[in-house]
Amino acid sequence: MQILITGGAGYIGSHTCVELAAAGHDLVVLDNFVNSNPASLMRVEHITGRKITLITADLCHAADVSAVFAAHAIDAVIHFAGLKAVGESNDKPLLYYHNNITGTLNLLQAMDAANCRQLVFSSSATVYGVPQKLPLTEDHPLSATNPYGRSKLMIEEILRDLYQSDARWRLAILRYFNPVGAHESGLIGEDPLGPPNNLMPFVAQVAGGRRDKLSVWGKDYPTIDGTGVRDYIHVVDLAAGHVKALDKLSAHHQGKCFVVNLGTGTGYSVMQVIENFKRASNRDIPYQICPRRAGDVAEVVASPDFAREFLGWEAQRGLDEMCRDHWRWQANNPNGFAS
Ligand code: UD1
Repeated sequence: MQILITGGAGYIGSHTCVELAAAGHDLVVLDNFVNSNPASLMRVEHITGRKITLITADLCHAADVSAVFAAHAIDAVIHFAGLKAVGESNDKPLLYYHNNITGTLNLLQAMDAANCRQLVFSSSATVYGVPQKLPLTEDHPLSATNPYGRSKLMIEEILRDLYQSDARWRLAILRYFNPVGAHESGLIGEDPLGPPNNLMPFVAQVAGGRRDKLSVWGKDYPTIDGTGVRDYIHVVDLAAGHVKALDKLSAHHQGKCFVVNLGTGTGYSVMQVIENFKRASNRDIPYQICPRRAGDVAEVVASPDFAREFLGWEAQRGLDEMCRDHWRWQANNPNGFAS
């Protein structure tokens, strides 16, 4: 198939491009590069030996999005493009709603007009809000606690309404847990703009000497060692989940709309991540215990059962591989793609 990947130059997008190319698909990437670097796609081409068609455009410009479908016979879309920083979304809700919601509406309208009704959407475990029952199953009640999370939840609702209105749509909603790690070549990985908000990239930059020390947000949670527990998932496993979701959508000719968690089902604490990363990098990781971060919860862990039963997908890589591969990327590219 010819697949359009929005946000394909980003962290999860670039890894998914590698898996899609390996599965034999032709790739068209649309990206505005506000939080990504075209170098990632050159490296994807290097890894896969396949050419990618690159379109530099913004989903918020409807005419540009329609033009993509006029110029290319797109069979399916994987939609990663979006803003994703929780703190920034509290400060700039209009920016987040405009970018994430308007961008998605423009994409869906262009798809509909072009008779392309097959979409895989990047959602997030953030739509479960504060977990009421662990592990999180797909039928857990939905709520979101910040504009970023609400934008993901709203897009999920838009997709469900769309399917209700027209059962020709084939829609896969993938709820990611905490993606970490990097492709094992060390050529592509996460390249955060400014100080990382997320744990693993921050730990990696401390190990690499780019930052002095890590702040551990809270050691008084009711968890194994008092620090927050999350379901970290290797980004290559996550990318493989997209190929499986696409296979599932394409396998039948009638429409469908499904939601699947992409997680491992195993949680690790902040201290466990630090200890494992120390071993993987053979570096010290200085840290200080700080008060809890607003909006954080004690524990978030996926039920991976439905993904296994329905998609025939499960994560293959554990925390050792996540830290090893994340470190290889960091060590080889201390300043990300600018290195
Ligand atoms: C965060 C977002 C979530 C988003 C996800 C994207 C919040 C509240 N949640 O999830 O909406 O979908 O990123 O990947 O921002 N930690 C530290 N020190 C740090 C950074 C993190 O101790 O410098 C701790 C956190 O308190 C948490 C764990 O590490 O216990 C993981 O944090 P993080 O990587 O930011 O992910 P989430 O908070 O799960």
